[in-house]
Amino acid sequence: MKTGERANFGSKIGIVLASAGSAVGLGNIWRFPCETGENGGAAFLLVYLLCVLVLGVPIMIAEFLIGRHSHANTASAYKILSPGTPWRWVGRMGVLAGFLILSYYAVVAGWTLDYTVQAVANRFNVMAASDPTGQVFTEYFARFVADPWWPVVYLALFLLMTHLVIVKGVEKGIERSSKILMPVLFLILVVLVFCSLSMPGAAAGMEFLLKPDFSKVDSRVVLSAMGQAFFSMSLGMGCLCTYASYFRSDANLAKTALSVGLIDTCVAVMAGLIIFPTVFSVASLTPEAGPSLVFIALPNIFQAAFGGVPVLAYLFSVMFYVLLVVASLTSTISLHEVVTAYLSETYHLSRAKAARLVTAGCLVLGCLCSLSMGVFKEYTVFGMNFFDLFDYVTAKLMLPLGGMLIAFFAGWVLDRRIVWGEVTNEGSIRFRGFQLFIFILKFVAPVGIGLVFLNELGLFRWL
Ligand code: PFF
Repeated sequence: MKTGERANFGSKIGIVLASAGSAVGLGNIWRFPCETGENGGAAFLLVYLLCVLVLGVPIMIAEFLIGRHSHANTASAYKILSPGTPWRWVGRMGVLAGFLILSYYAVVAGWTLDYTVQAVANRFNVMAASDPTGQVFTEYFARFVADPWWPVVYLALFLLMTHLVIVKGVEKGIERSSKILMPVLFLILVVLVFCSLSMPGAAAGMEFLLKPDFSKVDSRVVLSAMGQAFFSMSLGMGCLCTYASYFRSDANLAKTALSVGLIDTCVAVMAGLIIFPTVFSVASLTPEAGPSLVFIALPNIFQAAFGGVPVLAYLFSVMFYVLLVVASLTSTISLHEVVTAYLSETYHLSRAKAARLVTAGCLVLGCLCSLSMGVFKEYTVFGMNFFDLFDYVTAKLMLPLGGMLIAFFAGWVLDRRIVWGEVTNEGSIRFRGFQLFIFILKFVAPVGIGLVFLNELGLFRWL
């Protein structure tokens, strides 16, 4: 397919912001603190940072170069670059992963919509006034997610919002919204970090996040950190590969990957710096609270930080939840785009029709995930409800596996001249560390990820 037939991102900054828009989302603000809390804190953070640097950035460059060189959606990209081989299944697995992630991600994104509505209606301030211990927020969350109606309504609403942006097209929808709102989100996070650092549990929270206890690191922690790095950077399923197919030929792939990795990691660490001081300041919260952690901690932060000045508490919480919705939206758009681009280009459907199929499918699966917190609680697979199962299968199995195969493909299968040509824009820009990059793709990523998998499956226990 020729470049001219596909839409393009208009500017270089648009490329960085749209990719960062995909990367920054609930993965940073909801899932990262949740995983960090469940996996012991600082030691997890260190392993996570290592995964971002050693695996995340190189694999992101690999996804970029595969997408831009093929000018195609992730599944077709492998068909074009390695015709007649099973590699196209890597692309297909990515599409499936995107579909599954979108289904449960939109459930959590729906929760953020409800929290926005509550914040706008000033209900959190009223709740806080009725119960200064903050216990009321814990009860509110538990009641809300178990409700059979509202979370489903918000899930549908969120999917509809995503759907509308998708059918409006790539440039108008994705690029314009990312350009304005990402920097605002960043600023609010900075303010919140300062607020949470002045809370009574700040020292304990910082210690939890920054003082590593390596006795807590086992294969489960490493797999969780790796999965979180892939999830947070939108890697392992060809999402950024699909985005890169819209990149212009003069975009600097390595620099873009570094910028996106840096922005994404900063947002995650800031979320940690906001959440953990709060967790250690609120009696009813523990770091292992799981998916509820952020949703219970946040209203507490706003009260603790601005409770004395209700107008500020109101304004900050409304702004924050609105931006969280937007950050989630830029991520759901990118997930939706992967599946829509695949369906419309592979089966020659109009974008609108493909998008309708994706939205409807995600709504069905999303309902299942949402209800698994309440009425379907008893139905479990391997001890997990549907929501946790979707999260485990995608983030801890499909994304690391996808990342491993993408690295292997770029390192071993793809013609080295193509790789070099893409990262240097046909020799017009320098790429220091090309040999190291290739070494990571060929050996470090496939072997490293493979070992973690084998260990997780318990295979080393037999040795
Ligand atoms: N990276 C997104 C986040 O951190 O919220 C989630 C995500 C988007 C994962 C796109 C995977 C993906 F392809």
